[in-house]
Amino acid sequence: MKDKNCFILGIESSCDDTAAAVINNGTVLSNVVATQKIHEEYGGVVPELASRAHQQNIVPVVHQALRIANIDKKQLKAIAFTRGPGLMGSLLVGTSFSKSFAFGLGIPLIDVNHMQAHILAHFIKIEGQTMPSFPFLALTISGGHTQIVKVTDYFNMEILGQTIDDAVGEAFDKSAKILGLPYPGGPLLDKYAQQGNKKAFKFTKPRVNPMDFSFSGLKTAVLYFIQREVKNDPDFIAKNMKDICASIQFTIVDYLMDKLKNAVKHTGIKEIAIGGGVSANSGIRQALKEAEKKYGWKTHIPDFAFCTDNAAMIAMVGELKYKSGDFASFDVVAKARMKF
Ligand code: KG4
Ligand code: ZN
Repeated sequence: MKDKNCFILGIESSCDDTAAAVINNGTVLSNVVATQKIHEEYGGVVPELASRAHQQNIVPVVHQALRIANIDKKQLKAIAFTRGPGLMGSLLVGTSFSKSFAFGLGIPLIDVNHMQAHILAHFIKIEGQTMPSFPFLALTISGGHTQIVKVTDYFNMEILGQTIDDAVGEAFDKSAKILGLPYPGGPLLDKYAQQGNKKAFKFTKPRVNPMDFSFSGLKTAVLYFIQREVKNDPDFIAKNMKDICASIQFTIVDYLMDKLKNAVKHTGIKEIAIGGGVSANSGIRQALKEAEKKYGWKTHIPDFAFCTDNAAMIAMVGELKYKSGDFASFDVVAKARMKF
């Protein structure tokens, strides 16, 4: 039975985004994200600064999420929070805040696995979009993870393959850094790539098990290539930025698609959903659309707001767990590393 007053608050603080959202029967009423700008100066996330910024942001962010949803905190039915995986100091802020808020309000606390949430974000109701049907394959691509997951049910997930070193988001960010682009470079690299020639330069794709990934070699290949070219022409990067970005992006996207094809072959499942920050990438979005026609796949690509870290996905998982009475105890602890 649908409870029209089922308001769940989601809280996300696993990395460098402080986020809060309210969901009601699969519909997102508010989705507030405070992105921490401080890390740009350092070219990467500084864990200690991230936890401090979370502490400053969390109360106003939650306040705003409730205000936009137009509800009072007393109307909340439960509080869902990211328990892990992520940076310990960052997770601790969201976990401690959620515990005390839920305890104060006398409502249940629900722990959420961040990576499961990236996948289950597909069950947020959006007009005109169909949800994946089980079983489906999820490609979770972010700054911290790269996985292919077989999803048999909401909470029945099996990792078929994953990265053995860097995550794909790191490959984007580190390549962008080599090109002198500010952190996080992924979205900027994507922007330049859209205007460049993807066949201009060739990078070899690393070889590992059919459904696993490796990105550290690509980063080194980009570094050596740039060092070599800059020696001959100090303006090489500026002159070729768009083509370099397009070629790097093409290599990464093609590699992700190779792995997906292997997983489809292995499982016989042709329903594919992507999640995580890198699913905002224009190259992977286009390749997946093309795969529908080319290979008869059915693909699910989340809205931009639900690709990168957000609390709506945490609230979505919270709602699924709330409806099955799956609550956390108040002595639950944050976990930097967490399996499904
Ligand atoms: O899921 P997410 O917001 O945080 C993690 O859990 O890691 O993912 C962030 C990652 C960063 O590496 C960022 O550069 C990358 O997603 N990213 C992109 C794009 N938008 C975000 N990478 C490539 N193209 C994009 N358009
Ligand atoms: Zn994430």
